[in-house]
Amino acid sequence: MHKRFTTFLMLASLVLGLPAAAGEGEHGEDHDSPFEGMHLLLLMHNMQYYSHKLGLAVDANNPTLEGFYVHEVEEVIEAVSEIEEYEGIPIAENLKKTLMPAFEQLEAAIEGGERDAIDAAYDELLVGCNNCHAASEHGYIHIRRNHTNPYPQDFSPHD
Ligand code: HEC
Repeated sequence: MHKRFTTFLMLASLVLGLPAAAGEGEHGEDHDSPFEGMHLLLLMHNMQYYSHKLGLAVDANNPTLEGFYVHEVEEVIEAVSEIEEYEGIPIAENLKKTLMPAFEQLEAAIEGGERDAIDAAYDELLVGCNNCHAASEHGYIHIRRNHTNPYPQDFSPHD
């Protein structure tokens, strides 16, 4: 009984405490972006991380998880779009020309829910990454799809 009550208190404080710590709840439109103001190199680190996880969610046919990770990728993209120039490279402009159209296609495909379309659009997203690297003097950074799950996370549906 006592132990249960302690667990209840812990859960209650988690539930009550988290939104305050995160700023504005979970995925509301007006919450602070975790990526705002980050250096481009770290944005790319996050770009790779969340787009990889997005790919694993696609592989696992998990629409809910796709929705979650596509949102994280979008937030990284938004932060990248704030960078006009980096080492003389027009980042925002290159982003608009390369990754943006591919990302919008993928978002629409996920919305549509058709598995083959989602899979193909995900491949095109990675083409978009490489097109931007090529346009931004970093063509030697070549992204390719990785179906391996190195995370202690099961990407199959659990909702
Ligand atoms: C706006 C153009 C642009 C887009 C779009 C873009 N990148 Fe990059 N990326 C860069 C630039 C420029 C660098 C080099 C950054 C530096 O020198 O600090 C880079 C570096 C990287 C690196 C090397 C850093 C590291 O953490 O190992 C990776 C990986 C990477 N990008 C992944 C991606 C992925 C994955 C995508 C697509 C989901 C993507 N990038 C989209 C421009 C872009």
